[in-house]
Amino acid sequence: MGDMYSAYIQSTEHRPNFSTFVEVDEIPIIDLSETSQENLVSKIGKACEKWGFFQVINHGVPKDLIIKVENEAKKFFELSMEEKMKLKRDVFNATGYYDAEHTKKTRDWKEVFDFLVKDGIQIPSSDDPHDLGLCTQTNHWPQCLPHFREIMEEYSGKLEKLSYKLLELISLSLGLAGDKFLDCFKNQISLTRLNYYPPCPFPDLALGVGPHRDPCVLSVVVQDDTGGLQVKKNLVGGWVPVRPIPGAFVVNLGDIFQVWSNDKYESAEHRVVLNSQKERFSYPFFLFPGPHIMVKPAEELVSEKDPAKYKAYNFGKYYANRTHADFTKQEDEGKEIHNFKILD
Ligand code: OGA
Ligand code: NI
Repeated sequence: MGDMYSAYIQSTEHRPNFSTFVEVDEIPIIDLSETSQENLVSKIGKACEKWGFFQVINHGVPKDLIIKVENEAKKFFELSMEEKMKLKRDVFNATGYYDAEHTKKTRDWKEVFDFLVKDGIQIPSSDDPHDLGLCTQTNHWPQCLPHFREIMEEYSGKLEKLSYKLLELISLSLGLAGDKFLDCFKNQISLTRLNYYPPCPFPDLALGVGPHRDPCVLSVVVQDDTGGLQVKKNLVGGWVPVRPIPGAFVVNLGDIFQVWSNDKYESAEHRVVLNSQKERFSYPFFLFPGPHIMVKPAEELVSEKDPAKYKAYNFGKYYANRTHADFTKQEDEGKEIHNFKILD
């Protein structure tokens, strides 16, 4: 295969191993137009408990907007590398374009474009508690695509709204007030991502995204009809595909909900496998709180019998640490929530 591709080859434990696929069970599909909130909350609660993943239909985001996003994303990734590199992200500004070949920060076989819901937000420049420095995060937009920015901003606005709805339903399913966490999002660093996974000549050796958990509160994702997203399900002993459903959004809980719920819900591990023939696009929205927020289990879910399973952590410092690790290609050691776990 030659040196050209060596940066993408996964270590043996992370290779896709297609023989371990399980098709016995399916990620729940939830109809958000259901009129009984009680039923809806109960279904979402069950899905969160069992999977940490579900799909939503009748979510209210117009189909024609999603088609426009798809068209603009395709045009964007077709731009010359020179154009795309004008929007390159760096260690201080985590928004914009990156790929593994030109920035060599990951083994992921994909290209990415990120932008924030709130342009110009400030995040800590490092995870050092004594460093009070801040970095301003500015969105970059391709000048040669005149409608790109407007369409993407409309999309992220709609997904932000949908995320609050999901946040409310998930909070209710934990027995918490629907608006329990709403104040955390005043200076949110939520972002929308466009993912492009080119066809891969050696799909059994590489991954679109390696196994990971999302560090956010929750993720809402549109995927095209190629397929490839999989959830780890230890109970059934392997990786379960998240079947593409036209017009549906995939929702998954992130690490912050795991901590807030005091481990009642889990941030599920997932990955993206590749296809040798077909490219794949996906468009996640990651709901993040403001950087000043201390993440800790909800006090309503903690008691003497059921003590807090995590120490509180400052989200901005944690995020700075993760972003830095991305750029220095460190392994995730020290960057995962299990480091805040209180051991019995
Ligand atoms: C991610 C991710 C899934 C997908 O970007 O964190 O898991 O379907 N993406 O592309
Ligand atoms: Ni993810």
